[in-house]
Parts: sequence; C-alpha cells; structure tokens
Amino acid sequence: MQTPASTRTVTQTLTPRRAVFMVPPERPTIITIDGPAGTGKSSVARELAGRIGLDFLDTGAMYRAAAAIVIDHAIDRADTDAIVAKVAGADLHFDWTTDPPAIMAWDIPIDHRIRDADVTAIVSPIAAIGKLREHMVRKQRIIAHQHPRLVSEGRDQGSVVFPDACVKFYLDADAAVRAKRRADQLRAEGRDADEAALLAEILERDRSDSARKDGPLICPDDAVVIDTSRMTREQVVERLEDEVRVRIAL
Ligand code: DC
Repeated sequence: MQTPASTRTVTQTLTPRRAVFMVPPERPTIITIDGPAGTGKSSVARELAGRIGLDFLDTGAMYRAAAAIVIDHAIDRADTDAIVAKVAGADLHFDWTTDPPAIMAWDIPIDHRIRDADVTAIVSPIAAIGKLREHMVRKQRIIAHQHPRLVSEGRDQGSVVFPDACVKFYLDADAAVRAKRRADQLRAEGRDADEAALLAEILERDRSDSARKDGPLICPDDAVVIDTSRMTREQVVERLEDEVRVRIAL
C-alpha cells in the first residue's frame, strides 16, 4: 500500500534518531559455571569469584533449600502446587554478609541443613518441578539485578537463566572421580562416605538432571568446556581465571 503524501512529508522532516537511543544499558558482568554433580563447581566458583572480585551465587543451594523445606514441613512430594507455594512463602534469599553467602528461609539460615543425606536424596526430583524452576529462575535474575557482578553456578545458568552471560563455563569429570571427590569432602566434614553408593547416587542424579523437561543439564554451545578429572582444584581455578581475563576487562 502507498504511504499517504502527508505522512511521507512528516517522516522526511523528522530529525534522525540520535545514536544514544541505540546504546544498551551497561552490561552486567555475569559468569556462569554449569556441570554435573561432583565436579567441584561450587568451590571453584566461589574461589574464582573471590579472586576476580565478583559475588558468588550457589543456585544448587536454592534447590537444596526447597528440598529441605519439603521434608521439614512434611509436604506431600506429589503435591507440586503445595511445594511451590511453601517455597515461595519462605522467600529464599542469601545473607551476603557471610562467606559463602548463607541461604535463608523465612529469614532464618538453613545452610547447615541443605547438604544432609535426606535432602540430597530428594533434591533432583524436587528440582525437576517446572513451576518451582520458574520461581527459582525469577529469583536468580532478581539476585543478578541486585548483584550485577556475579559468578553464578548451577545446571542451567548459561543455558536458561543468563543466556547473555559474558563468559560461560561447563565443568565435567569422570563419574568415578566425582564420587571420590564427594567422599573426600564428606570425610573432611567428619561424615561417613560409601564411595560405591555415592557413585550410584551421582549417576542417578546426572540422569535425572539431564532428562528433565525444564532447565535440563546441558552444555551451552558457547561454553568453555573443562574436563577437571585430572586437574587439581587450584589448576581449575587458575584456568578459569585465565579464560575470564582474556575475555573481559574486570
Ligand atoms: O550443585 P548441587 O549438588 O548443590 O545441586 C543440587 C541439586 O539441584 C542437583 O540435583 C541439581 C539441582 N540444580 C538444578 O537443577 N539447577 C540448578 N541451577 C542448580 C542445581
């Protein structure tokens, strides 16, 4: 259809848009670290964040907190609406004055509870609840808005939550190595550790985290993939820091 002459005249006499309208707002500095259980993501993410002066977000702690709430409030695991309502009511957030930041529910720290075996045993199916993930993704984006210089660690951080992250990492390792690391970690905390049982649990969690419909564990196409099987924690942190520093000015 032809543009009416009067409209054409107005369009032609308008001042061209100034470039300032095109400039995007200052980009937050988000670094994502995803990967399966037992790759040491949390500890290296936390150390990386400390080295480069960013905040650290442990999104697994949020799903673990949800699982702890389900157990401690005796919520029927099949009643997903009740789970989402209870967790939303708990207003999960972090106390950023502690290192690492402590996860809080109803303004009370629950970080001491979230790594207990009963919580670990049910966290993967809880984390597969679609509506719960939507809630967590919203919360994680709000946290990033409040802490725009962030290392965020989980399963879906680079793929779903922060697809525009400045740098994305995907850490992987042999399942047997991951089971051994988990066992060493538990023993260091004075807890019992059965390596064969831990390996079976890790494999089951990998399967369930990768197979779920919402926010499955996948490696984003644009992620830097690092196999940590034969690397020490220090080597992994060094490598991550090097990769970050060649990509962005901090
Ligand atoms: O990293 P972790 O072991 O603390 O994670 C606990 C569980 O939460 C694990 O089963 C995967 C799930 N999780 C998730 O589904 N999405 C995330 N962003 C982080 C963790």
